[in-house]
Amino acid sequence: MTEFYNPVKAVFGPGSFDKLQQLIANRIYAIVTYDEAFSMQLVRRLEDAGRGAEIIINNVKANPDFPEVKAACEALKKLPKFPEVFVGLGGGSAIDTAKALAVSGGDWELLKEHLITGGGRADELKKPSIIAVPTNAGTGSEVSLGAVIWDRANGGKWGVRSNHGFPDYAVVDPELTLSLPRDQTISTGLDALSHALESIWQTKRNFITQPIAEQAARNVIRYLPLLVDDLTNLELRTTMSAAAMKAGIALSQTRTSIAHQLSYDLSLNYGVPHGIACGFSLPMVMSWSIGFDRNCDESLKTIFGDNLGSGVRDFEKFFDRLGVSRNPTTYGPSKNEWEKMVMDAASGTKGKNFLGKPKLS
Ligand SMILES: [Fe+2]
Repeated sequence: MTEFYNPVKAVFGPGSFDKLQQLIANRIYAIVTYDEAFSMQLVRRLEDAGRGAEIIINNVKANPDFPEVKAACEALKKLPKFPEVFVGLGGGSAIDTAKALAVSGGDWELLKEHLITGGGRADELKKPSIIAVPTNAGTGSEVSLGAVIWDRANGGKWGVRSNHGFPDYAVVDPELTLSLPRDQTISTGLDALSHALESIWQTKRNFITQPIAEQAARNVIRYLPLLVDDLTNLELRTTMSAAAMKAGIALSQTRTSIAHQLSYDLSLNYGVPHGIACGFSLPMVMSWSIGFDRNCDESLKTIFGDNLGSGVRDFEKFFDRLGVSRNPTTYGPSKNEWEKMVMDAASGTKGKNFLGKPKLS
């Protein structure tokens, strides 16, 4: 049986940011973003166009962790009125934090319990409006319910598990990505590519997600190498924003698979940026996926051509051209540690969703 549910309304294209005040519609709102010049410039642009924010939460860092989310919950609780709208402005970390804070209602204990129990007390979560405004092209968080929050002190990583995490609106303005540096353009682009491919070799892939994911993967593979040499090209930026959004829509139905599972230890223990951590292994994971599932193979052929063996080699060259190492030991773990990670990932939840079978070299 195929199921599909994605309630996010989207506004896409250059200039979309100017629609934001209209979508906030004079409601009390919070902004969740980064403490950096570009983000604050966008906040000022938003506030100059209409109502000001009730609170600006800008303590978000890459891979949001319990202490800063707790501090933000406490700040929200002190407000005379809980915001009706949460604007997540930034990359996946800002959007995910906005989702977590929105559903928390300012109650840290509720949110924490929901996270660490894998979905407990979901019926107590709140549902303020969430508007996701990505400033990069990769996460897909703007069109999915997922919100990843880390508990580094205890070596954990948790997710919001409620449809309340779906944004009401995704405002995807590729102009906001124009100043993204080369390294972040690559890492976020690889995150989008990971979402597309992971949703193809995932047991939950279906006839709706597959064509969207195929198109997203083709576009990233074709246009990301052009974009990294032409960073201010709005047409290429627009194509990448669309690809990230498409990959996010596919992922919102299937969720991630083994490449993401493998990425978490690399990010947690070795500080590898998310997109690189889940992206560098894609040719390897692709080689593990071939020959196990006809639909998966057919999807991969639409991206890599009929000969999937030579497709893997071409895919490797794509990484070489971007200057991204495909060797796991480059990122910190020894060969033995990596092999253990692969075996552990294969038996984990996301590994079980993988249609292929890992092979150690
Ligand atoms: Fe990802």
